[in-house]
Amino acid sequence: TIVLENLRQIVQIVDDNVTEYLTGKDMNGIKIIGSESKDLAVVVVDGVIKDIGRLIDLEAKLDLSTSPRYDCGGGCLLPGLVDGHSHPVFAGDRVHEFAMKLAGATYMEVQAAGGGIHFTTTKTREAPKTALIANFKKIADQMIKFGTTTLEAKSGYGLNWETELKMLEAIEEVAADHPLEISGTFCGAHAIPKDKNEHEQSREIVDKMIPKLRQLQREGQLKSLENIDVFCEKGVFEIETSKEILTTGKNAGFHINFHADELHPLNGAEMGASIGARAMSHLEEISEKGISAMALSGTVATLLPSTAYMLRLKPPPARDMIEKGVIVALGSDFNPNAYCLSMSMIMHLACVTFKMSMPEALVAATLNSAHSLGRGKSHGAIAVNRIADFILIDAPKWEHLIYQFGGHSTIISAVFKRGKIVY
Ligand code: NIG
Ligand code: FE
Repeated sequence: TIVLENLRQIVQIVDDNVTEYLTGKDMNGIKIIGSESKDLAVVVVDGVIKDIGRLIDLEAKLDLSTSPRYDCGGGCLLPGLVDGHSHPVFAGDRVHEFAMKLAGATYMEVQAAGGGIHFTTTKTREAPKTALIANFKKIADQMIKFGTTTLEAKSGYGLNWETELKMLEAIEEVAADHPLEISGTFCGAHAIPKDKNEHEQSREIVDKMIPKLRQLQREGQLKSLENIDVFCEKGVFEIETSKEILTTGKNAGFHINFHADELHPLNGAEMGASIGARAMSHLEEISEKGISAMALSGTVATLLPSTAYMLRLKPPPARDMIEKGVIVALGSDFNPNAYCLSMSMIMHLACVTFKMSMPEALVAATLNSAHSLGRGKSHGAIAVNRIADFILIDAPKWEHLIYQFGGHSTIISAVFKRGKIVY
């Protein structure tokens, strides 16, 4: 048991462990408890939230006389942030390409010239697994400091079996001994490797890699691997190929969570909704019909403000999505193109560039992104019987986490994963 006491605000989001996500106007109706006298507390038992309220009431209900206390210093408690989309395992960086993009090159022009994902794939293939693990651990440490407690993490810089497996094993090792909780994703269809065409790469994935992954999981390996992803894009994996890879993955037991309608309008959202995708990301070029299809299928739209900002893309129609009832989540898309680790920065960008409100951005970065990873009933909110993942901020109102940009991390005074202080 641990008692977090001396709190001014607790941003619960929802106050039950039944609501898995919020949509539409409900995103602005988040549950917050506040007390100017800073007498709020949370009781955690075995990593799970046991009770919430005024300390005096909790002490009357529960025997807390011998429980250790954590003094929250009159700050605000929020749920740990859930990052719904990242590519955190790779070797090298692409700082030189940032200069090219600033000079006017587009994402696909850089990639066609052998850069982009191809550059990172070469570096990642060359790197020993130990180096990938060490790099990822450093990134995971920083993410924790920035308040992320659960992360979706993709492979996809191997593109061949050997290196894709090396990446998934690196994810597995970090997941096993780092406080950051990881939902792993196989993204062998992230690009078409230089020595193959679209058809050949999809045969490799469908006929060889997915069955081998399934076999490894049957043997009890790769426990953190939960999802399958494809970069569904013009000139990369077209609609029909993407659909085949994703449905094969689904039949092998993975949840579909893929890159759709980012650079060209391919009706990827309609396709994803039709095959029961759990989430789709980017969606800058989603159609009206795609929005309706996603609202109907309950597929989460994981929006990625860092990428749209970095690549100066047209923003996705976040307002339309929210008004039409799509479940909107947020991800950092952390990768060597969009090198942003901070979900606070992502929320800030979502507000300014996608016109989301602060409560909408917070819901999208907590409960709704937890739902995109199948954790909507257990993570992403501060309610009884949910996992005790929190960020404590030293500010008079929770909104400071989004409002203060550039230096958000300076107001995060502690981070808790399953009730343990991890920062
Ligand atoms: O989500 N669009 C494809 N994949 C990544 C970028 C990966 C990379 O450039 O290394 C994305 O933006
Ligand atoms: Fe991505």
